[in-house]
Amino acid sequence: MGKNLLELKSLDVSEIVSILDQAQAFHDGEVFRGLEGRIAANLFFEPSTRTQYSFNVAEVKLGLRVVSFNPAGSSLQKNESFYDTVKTFDSFGPDLLVIRHVENEYYNQLLGHVNAKILNGGDGTGNHPTQSLLDLLTIRQEFGHFEGLKVAIIGDVSHSRVAHTNFEVMGRLGMEVCTSGPEEYMETALNYKPFEEAVRESDVVMLLRVQHERHKEKMHLSVEEYHRRYGMDKQKLSWMKDGAIIMHPAPFNRGVEIADEVVECSRSRIFKQVNNGVFVRMAAIKRALWD
Ligand code: CP
Repeated sequence: MGKNLLELKSLDVSEIVSILDQAQAFHDGEVFRGLEGRIAANLFFEPSTRTQYSFNVAEVKLGLRVVSFNPAGSSLQKNESFYDTVKTFDSFGPDLLVIRHVENEYYNQLLGHVNAKILNGGDGTGNHPTQSLLDLLTIRQEFGHFEGLKVAIIGDVSHSRVAHTNFEVMGRLGMEVCTSGPEEYMETALNYKPFEEAVRESDVVMLLRVQHERHKEKMHLSVEEYHRRYGMDKQKLSWMKDGAIIMHPAPFNRGVEIADEVVECSRSRIFKQVNNGVFVRMAAIKRALWD
């Protein structure tokens, strides 16, 4: 009973739609009391605001009790390993572990060694399943369907687990996905298009933060040049189709990939995405511990 949520590749479309339907029901006010008193441990080994705290809110809304983890105050500082830290938390007996870690597919080393269900809050540049699900929920609320929509994912694509997860799942759901941005961060397999063309033709323009913390070399462009060439500003907004929207997984850097005036403009769905994150995570928790 119950399922981990580690990535989306292994979920068929009907299972993805079923999570979105449950998330929409929570969004619309459904209350579920079956998990009251269960325990969740949120283990974020990388910084997080949205994922960590919206999981926390989702857990509270479902009546779970929540244990949070502070890496800086933990025995990681005494060279305890990632595996041993997770194994220790699992030995406390929680029902659920929500984990974010810098290593791609960190969860493979845990499978078969922990009793709690695992929800992946992001692994390196690999997967961010709940972010993609909240992106999908936001798109479905906006357009009512997926088939035939054009999506442009723009920015530091090669370091982005959001780009990798979305490119795969959105294609499977019938969307036409392209990527754009500085060539140093592009991946040839991900349907690269020049920036202006990508912005003009898309229903969804999804911007990405430059992930300096993952770079081996300093970005070749200055921040000013990046903003001039790839940053969404008022003038570039005018290129967008009627009805097209701006999305961003956030955190966003104002004045780099997005101008101040675009963050809360009428096309922006950034804070709608954040709000949907709570409902998608409620659905993921219910699937893990109940369904
Ligand atoms: N989108 C996202 O994963 O944000 P956080 O890093 O703040 O969790």
